[in-house]
Amino acid sequence: MQFYIDSADIEEIRQANKRGWVDGVTTNPTLVAKTGRKNADVIKDICKEVKGLVSAEVISLQADEMVREGLELAKIADNVVVKIPMCEEGLVAVRRLASDGIKTNVTLIFSPLQALLVAKAGATLVSPFVGRLDDIAYDGMELISQITQIYENYEMDTQVLVASIRHPIHVLQSALMKADIVTCPYKVFAQLVNHPLTDKGIAQFLKDAAAMPK
Ligand code: G3P
Repeated sequence: MQFYIDSADIEEIRQANKRGWVDGVTTNPTLVAKTGRKNADVIKDICKEVKGLVSAEVISLQADEMVREGLELAKIADNVVVKIPMCEEGLVAVRRLASDGIKTNVTLIFSPLQALLVAKAGATLVSPFVGRLDDIAYDGMELISQITQIYENYEMDTQVLVASIRHPIHVLQSALMKADIVTCPYKVFAQLVNHPLTDKGIAQFLKDAAAMPK
């Protein structure tokens, strides 16, 4: 399973990259707005920092405009993936970008049938949002189970990128369901590292080492 970081903060991405948590990056307008910088400038800096795919989102909702924006974003670097919100016009844009050889990631997916349409349109990645479903008392991970099953049934090439991850259990369940990618905030990766018994064990080893003859 690949690890992407869900961030537009270059320093955070650098730190995560050093720790081996950056097979790719996902951004969205909310994350980029927090940097106070232009989308294209942020994406350019991220693409210099990482080798994997970097999702950069369009803001238009009309197919021609999405394609125009997508082509501009794709010029920034070879590893840019054009992120498109799920809607009818978005599916038109995905088809057109795919026929030009541009990679796409369709975002804001909340149902398995949306994901089926995304794969049929030829998207590279699909982004189901698990945390936002949990927030409204639906089972976000059930969506991942259904999408991975449908894609397996029909040998679809689109990769499942689990997004809106809030805690380590989302990562564990994604791995058990054979999702292709998880995109996590830095904080969640850091949570994966820690275990109280590990801390206790380290403390004991240090104590015992201190008692060894010098
Ligand atoms: O990049 C999209 C996604 O991961 C958003 O997560 O926490 O805003 O629901 P969240």
